[in-house]
Amino acid sequence: MGRITWLFLFCFYVLNAGQTEVKKVRGRAGKTVTLHSNITEVQSDVIWSFPFGTSSSKVIAQLFNKENVKYYGQRFKDRLQLDTQTGSLTIKNLNTYDSGGYQLQIGSNEELSITFEVMVYGLVSKPEIRPLNTDESDFRDFPSNSSCSVLCSVENGREVTLSWQREGETLSHTSSPDLNNLSLPLEIEEYNSTYSCAAANPVSNQSLDLNTEEFCPQNAAPTPTARVSKSLLVLGGTGCVSAVLCVAHMEEEEEEKNEEAAKWPKFYTINSCRWCFSVSREL
Ligand SMILES: *[C@@H]1O[C@H](CO)[C@@H](O)[C@H](O)[C@H]1NC(C)=O
Ligand SMILES: *[C@@H]1O[C@H](CO)[C@@H](O)[C@H](O)[C@H]1NC(C)=O
Ligand SMILES: *[C@@H]1O[C@H](CO)[C@@H](O)[C@H](O)[C@H]1NC(C)=O
Ligand SMILES: *[C@@H]1O[C@H](CO)[C@@H](O)[C@H](O)[C@H]1NC(C)=O
Ligand SMILES: *[C@@H]1O[C@H](CO)[C@@H](O)[C@H](O)[C@H]1NC(C)=O
Repeated sequence: MGRITWLFLFCFYVLNAGQTEVKKVRGRAGKTVTLHSNITEVQSDVIWSFPFGTSSSKVIAQLFNKENVKYYGQRFKDRLQLDTQTGSLTIKNLNTYDSGGYQLQIGSNEELSITFEVMVYGLVSKPEIRPLNTDESDFRDFPSNSSCSVLCSVENGREVTLSWQREGETLSHTSSPDLNNLSLPLEIEEYNSTYSCAAANPVSNQSLDLNTEEFCPQNAAPTPTARVSKSLLVLGGTGCVSAVLCVAHMEEEEEEKNEEAAKWPKFYTINSCRWCFSVSREL
């Protein structure tokens, strides 16, 4: 290949690279972001356009003769600042609608152009935890094997991820651009562990610790042994109430000195009563 061809290819490459260069920039709603040209001193006029790459792209700021700056349009009213030295653009009080392409063009014949792809994120909301299919009657029948599940949900937004963590380890996660809310269920397996639900986007995160005692009071005991004794306590409590009632009734009957009172033991054939009577006698 001849020297001219090489030169042509080199120029083509440089120009092309200049034109297609895209810098990704993340911003947070309400904050400020600066799109840096990385040029120490601009020698030509500067033009900034937005939203670059769309049919509605317009010039939003311009620098003439190294010192005269002009801003256009209502959208960025009083929020733009063009640095006359470097040509960099600062956008203040960002909102999510400021997301999009910003093109910096230096020199009227496109000596240099850089495209910035700006993405503005809001703060992620706080997740919420609510119980899921915690069936009280199930627990009463099978106190030792009932499971407890909860659901964590959060308002969705740009690149929001919702996850369950246990002792800093991620157990599960979800994200979807199409939903209004993200939700993730959790079946609690270790009541001695700290679970937390975390929501995050590229600029912020929020997490909420799961209080197992609040959502799964029947299972919140730290060990299986403790869980069983707790359920016995509940049964014992019910039994004792019956016992007191039975005894009270018996005493009342005795006061009346009714012959029937002597036949009271028959009453104890009612299961709970007999059981609690034996327990209270033991006590
Ligand atoms: C400017 O320099 C910074 C730091 O070296 C770099 O991260 C950034 O991508 C550069 N921007 C451009 C437009 O080259
Ligand atoms: C608990 O165990 C009983 C009997 O073993 C079973 O019938 C029931 O389905 C179990 N319940 C749960 C929630 O696993
Ligand atoms: C989920 O979405 C509904 C409406 O679709 C809303 O009322 C509710 O507050 C949302 N929940 C969370 C945790 O964001
Ligand atoms: C919780 O208890 C289980 C066994 O019951 C054990 O394997 C696990 O390491 C414990 N977790 C913590 C955080 O203590
Ligand atoms: C959450 O945000 C804090 C700063 O706000 C950061 O230090 C931390 O690493 C973030 N955590 C995660 C899991 O992204």
